[in-house]
Order: sequence, then structure tokens, then C-alpha cells
Amino acid sequence: MQIRDEQPRDHAAIAELVERAFGQPVEARLVEKLRDDGDAAISLVAEEGDAIVGHILLSPMAAPFPALGLAPLAVLPGHERKGIGSALVKAAIARAGERNYGAVFVLGDPGYYERFGFRAALAADFSSPYAGPYFMVMPLRESLPATTGRVDYARAFDGLA
Ligand SMILES: CC(C)(COP(=O)(O)OP(=O)(O)OC[C@H]1O[C@@H](n2cnc3c(N)ncnc32)[C@H](O)[C@@H]1OP(=O)(O)O)[C@@H](O)C(=O)NCCC(=O)NCCS
Repeated sequence: MQIRDEQPRDHAAIAELVERAFGQPVEARLVEKLRDDGDAAISLVAEEGDAIVGHILLSPMAAPFPALGLAPLAVLPGHERKGIGSALVKAAIARAGERNYGAVFVLGDPGYYERFGFRAALAADFSSPYAGPYFMVMPLRESLPATTGRVDYARAFDGLA
């Protein structure tokens, strides 16, 4: 399994994979809108042979410091629990750390995301429509540049909260 940046030729396969993983078209449309808006800051695919079996996207957030929002993450049904999702999260975090970002936010299951270092407690004092036990942040440096303030996902997320 190889992880690489998405290419234009992957767009159709990504849309199909994301729709199949979520069982609805909402997240696949979100990916397309984020891309159209120029907000696909990090978009990686996991490839097995010629097949794309996983995808992850991180988009810039409006926040008190440069931050990314992780969403969506999708693994092709039938390929789960082989470490593809984890490999994509780790690769995306490594990419984000190489750039000028202070943190990655995610809305998801703490049982999954805590293993990578995401913490709901660290996100608790930020103001967001997604605030709550599923809203987590992972610092990319020693500590967060700020622990309070308003954080908003990219425009494509409007109406999804
Ligand atoms: C969630 C998802 C990305 C996980 O991908 P994956 O490749 O199966 O994940 P990995 O193989 O890296 O990790 C599997 C581990 O995650 C756990 N896991 C998977 N989904 C989980 C969930 N929703 N909540 C908690 N743990 C979960 C598994 O139990 C497994 O744990 P183990 O290693 O202790 O047995 C994938 O199942 C998927 O695409 N789901 C549908 C779309 C979705 O819900 N995306 C997440 C949106 S935030």
C-alpha cells in the first residue's frame, strides 16, 4: 500500500470511494467543493496496486493560528481494519507538520482519533459549532499557539454542522 498526493486523474475514484465508505453522497460532494474552492490543502490517497482504497483531506480553518481541519477520512468498504485509515492520518499529520500549521482539528470518534494524539480536552475552550466531546485537536508543535478563540471549518462545510 502506497500513500501519495491525489492527482486530477484520481478525482472520480475518490468520489466513488468516499460515497461508498459513508453510504451517502454528502461527503463526496464535500470533497469536490473543497477542491473547487482551493481548500484541499492536503489530499492523500492510499493505493493498492491500481486501486485507490483510502482517502484523507485536510482543509485550512479560520482560527487564531494556522490550523487545518481533517475531514473527510474514508477507507473502501472491504479494506477496513488493515491500518489504511491510520496510515493516512499519520501521513497527513506529518505533511501538516512540515508546513506552517500549528494544529489539526477533527470532529470524530475519540476512540479512533486519540491514538494519533488528538484530544477533546485541548479543544474544549475553542468556540466552534462542532464543540463537544467529538471535537478534538492535535498540536503539531510542543504546544498549541493558543487554546481559545473561534475556529471555523472552510466554506464548503457551511450548512453541514
Ligand atoms: C473509520 C475508518 C476511516 C477507519 O479506517 P480503517 O482503515 O479501518 O482504520 P485502521 O485499520 O487504521 O484502524 C482500525 C482500528 O480503528 C478502529 N475503528 C474503526 N472505526 C472506528 C470508529 N468509528 N470508532 C472507533 N474505532 C474505530 C477499529 O476498531 C480498529 O481498532 P483496532 O486496531 O484496535 O482493532 C473507516 O472504517 C471508514 O472509512 N469508515 C466510514 C467513513 C467514516 O466513518 N470515516 C470517519 C469520519 S471521521
